[in-house]
Amino acid sequence: MQRAVAQGTKAVSRTAAVIAGAAGFTGLGLVYALENSVSASSDAVHPYHLPWSHAGPFSSFDIASVRRGYEVYKQVCAACHSMKFIHYRHFVDTIMTEEEAKAEAADALINDVDDRGAPIQRPGILTDKLPAPYPNKKAAAAANNGAAPPDLSLMSLARHGGDDYVFSLLTGYMEAPAGIKVDDGKAYNPYFPGGVISMPQQLFDEGIEYKDGTPATMSQQAKDVSAFMHWCAEPFHDTRKKWALKIAALIPFVAVILVYGKRHFWSFNKSQKFIFKTVKGREPPKHQ
Ligand code: HEC
Repeated sequence: MQRAVAQGTKAVSRTAAVIAGAAGFTGLGLVYALENSVSASSDAVHPYHLPWSHAGPFSSFDIASVRRGYEVYKQVCAACHSMKFIHYRHFVDTIMTEEEAKAEAADALINDVDDRGAPIQRPGILTDKLPAPYPNKKAAAAANNGAAPPDLSLMSLARHGGDDYVFSLLTGYMEAPAGIKVDDGKAYNPYFPGGVISMPQQLFDEGIEYKDGTPATMSQQAKDVSAFMHWCAEPFHDTRKKWALKIAALIPFVAVILVYGKRHFWSFNKSQKFIFKTVKGREPPKHQ
């Protein structure tokens, strides 16, 4: 009789567990469905996944491409976008030699003040930031139909889709489909959420000339400037991957030492037999 009751209780608790599990899964499924319905309702086209040379866990930046990307940024994007976290010194021994970086800095005009506090412009030095095109956000917005061009230092990590998004955005301009109104100074770009962007098309075939002679097609420039923007957002990218590889290679050796050490230090406890004496009259409760 008692057994039957116990079994009944077991069956009930098992059923309850199954129901709770099913409810849990349904809940997760609901969260997943909602999450995806939100993405599906977005009006932006999802960018293609492109084979970036720095995308794999063991790959590093294509520095020649990053250097060309700097040329694109300097000649095209710098007219509107700042790169406030990048200083000329960051270029030294990463994408340029020290002489090249110094020459780049000297080429730029930096706003400063003279000894009496009067505003002046002087040639840059390695410790200067890349110069910003506008003195402040309001001036930037006023010059661009009310939308301030965002700073590009961290842009490549800040947008969903990263490099794929930046590339697609720069090469994805097209005629607006019927029914979409594009105001003067704005453009239609299906990769931009909302479709209408305040940045007109910037890259054109042969729009610039590369120093290394690479044909400057629109997609080449977009690829290079995306690589440069990723380098700016993560200049330590290559070092990070190199260290990850070194540490991953060390893990098996460390694991052997740790396992051996653990067995060594626990061997005393694990090979002992503990006997607990009970005081008369104060026996522990018996296990059923
Ligand atoms: C004539 C000025 C101008 C130039 C030149 C320019 N941009 Fe822009 N850019 C803008 C403006 C304005 C916005 C803000 C658009 C908006 O919010 O509608 C913007 C936005 C962006 C964005 C952010 C889009 C987003 O998801 O919010 C990226 C990325 C970008 N620009 C990259 C570039 C690159 C790379 C270049 C150089 C090839 C460049 N821009 C050249 C004006 C410019």
